[in-house]
Amino acid sequence: MEENLAGDGQLPDERLLRLNRRWSEGGTGLLITGNVMVHAQAMTGPAGVVLDADSPLEPFTRWAKAAKSGGAAVWMQINHPGRQVFAEMPGVAWGPSAIRVDIGKQSKRLAQPVAMTEEEIADTVARFADTARLAEKAGFDGVEIHAADGYLLSQFLSPLSNVRTDRWGGSLDNRARLLLDVVRKVRATVAPQFAVAVKLNSADFQRGGFEVADAQRVIAMLAPLGVDLVELSGGSYESPAMSGRPADGRAP
Ligand SMILES: Cc1cc2nc3c(=O)[nH]c(=O)nc-3n(C[C@H](O)[C@H](O)[C@H](O)COP(=O)(O)O)c2cc1C
Repeated sequence: MEENLAGDGQLPDERLLRLNRRWSEGGTGLLITGNVMVHAQAMTGPAGVVLDADSPLEPFTRWAKAAKSGGAAVWMQINHPGRQVFAEMPGVAWGPSAIRVDIGKQSKRLAQPVAMTEEEIADTVARFADTARLAEKAGFDGVEIHAADGYLLSQFLSPLSNVRTDRWGGSLDNRARLLLDVVRKVRATVAPQFAVAVKLNSADFQRGGFEVADAQRVIAMLAPLGVDLVELSGGSYESPAMSGRPADGRAP
């Protein structure tokens, strides 16, 4: 879970270190961090951690060391929120299409996204790889690419938020292209023994959305790419199955 404990400069500070040291010393085998942003202009909230090419590495080295102090391995979850950003946050609101999150009367709290250009898509693939490379350099044992819970990669997968008519939208092969490109680029950037995991929705829990059969097909697409683990989640801000409240009432 996102810790919302970033200190100055969106960096991990003593509070995050203390938390991870305690979990590690408690005997955890594997710690997966809350989502770390790959783009400083695209934040899930004001106290999120950012790791990009401009970040000093030392706070991350200390974070990895604290998480491993009790013998645990630690993977960094890496994420781009896409359109799931609050309107009052500075920065960009990007999505596959210019479709705002629909949470009824509260929708205006979320930013109006713009449809990403080819350049912005390519830049985002590079950012995921940069963050993974820096996580490895800082001493993390792996990364988990966040492609669930309605964030950017999940938005591309879902026909409800992705109505593009180019090679990034339409068929499931096209909607999965961004996730697969990110996984390939990350895998090619890090060492073979560095773990690469994916968090994927089992379903959007919305009529006409990404369905269980789609998730099965995407997992089959991921299988040959050297993914070490797939964690299943479900839903989005529109249908928060990941916190037990899917809009369509089905069990997560
Ligand atoms: C406050 C809060 C923050 C969360 N942050 C993240 C996150 O950073 N990354 C993530 O993958 N899931 C996040 N989630 C979703 C939880 O990970 C998800 O609910 C969890 O997988 C459910 O696990 P459980 O079935 O063991 O309760 C968050 C949920 C809450 C309530």
